[in-house]
Amino acid sequence: MPENILVTGGCGFIGANLVRTLAERGLVRSIRVIDDESRGRRDAIAPYDAEFVKGDIRDRDLMRRALRNVDAVVHLAADTDVIDSITNPERNFDINVAGTFRLLMLMREMDVPRLVNASTGGAILGEARPPVHEEMVPHPTSPYGAGKASVEAWCSAFAASYGFASVSLRFSNVYGPMSFHKGSVIASFMRRILDGVPLTVYGDGSQTRDYIFVDDLCEGIVAAMTAGKPGVFQLGSGAGTTLDRLIELIAEVACPGRRPDVRYEPFRTGEIRHNWTDVTRAREQLNWTPRTSLPDGLALTWSWFRDHALSQPPGRRLSRQPARRTP
Ligand SMILES: NC(=O)c1ccc[n+]([C@@H]2O[C@H](COP(=O)([O-])OP(=O)(O)OC[C@H]3O[C@@H](n4cnc5c(N)ncnc54)[C@H](O)[C@@H]3O)[C@@H](O)[C@H]2O)c1
Repeated sequence: MPENILVTGGCGFIGANLVRTLAERGLVRSIRVIDDESRGRRDAIAPYDAEFVKGDIRDRDLMRRALRNVDAVVHLAADTDVIDSITNPERNFDINVAGTFRLLMLMREMDVPRLVNASTGGAILGEARPPVHEEMVPHPTSPYGAGKASVEAWCSAFAASYGFASVSLRFSNVYGPMSFHKGSVIASFMRRILDGVPLTVYGDGSQTRDYIFVDDLCEGIVAAMTAGKPGVFQLGSGAGTTLDRLIELIAEVACPGRRPDVRYEPFRTGEIRHNWTDVTRAREQLNWTPRTSLPDGLALTWSWFRDHALSQPPGRRLSRQPARRTP
């Protein structure tokens, strides 16, 4: 396990949970976080022993300082909004692709030997017959997906050409505490239930996704750092859940005995119908297994959302947050 870690985007949903995991378990000697706070907030990591550098990963001088004395980078910073990437592909390319390329160049210049890159399954593979796995041919359906596929290729090329260890982890749909700002389905449904407004489902509710609890995902990131194996790994729960079943499970923890009001709208263009993952490679090569059942993970997530909502100023409508969507 590397000792001195830089987490880019470390104030975001997954980043803050990873910092908590690393700090609480004393897994590393030092944690440094760089984040421009465009989405996450430094408050999320304030309780933990981590150095915070505020700024953009595209700022070379700042990144040189952030990379000093670092053994490994967990690269999470990204423009994660799929719909925005369709509206503004150039911005997405600049942050996600060019930003990562510059990070790779600086890691080479400064001899930082190890990278864990946050990638994605669904957006890279497009409409593929589940369970999806690492050997499938990518068919990205959005600039976000194309960017993530391209970054995987750049990481692989830098690893082969310049001899550092790089691994790309394809996350499925991640949920859990500290995701209040996310537009992902579980976060937006929970905010809407707290506000007492109907849930919106695009499609007939039969579409399936693979929901992984953030603690399990962070264990996967730690396992990948420890194993130091190169390549691409899917990290998911390994099971598909329909949206209608997800709503039933959320209702069981958030409003027992009653189904929330749900409005059904037509499927959105580009929306993938069915996606879940085969995690055999990660089980076998990283020695990693997701452990949290969906009902248990939803209960932990709901309890965090409820407490977080209570700490908001009175009268603030939570579901009016900008609707952002992460695959
Ligand atoms: N959450 C999911 O379900 C999911 C699924 C697949 C892949 N991913 C990937 O995992 C990573 C983390 O996702 P997340 O859900 O924690 O998202 P997030 O938006 O909560 O976190 C991203 C963080 O990066 C920061 N950031 C954005 N642009 C930056 C820049 N130019 N410079 C510095 N900081 C910047 C943001 O402020 C934010 O704190 C992303 O790369 C995302 O694409 C997430």
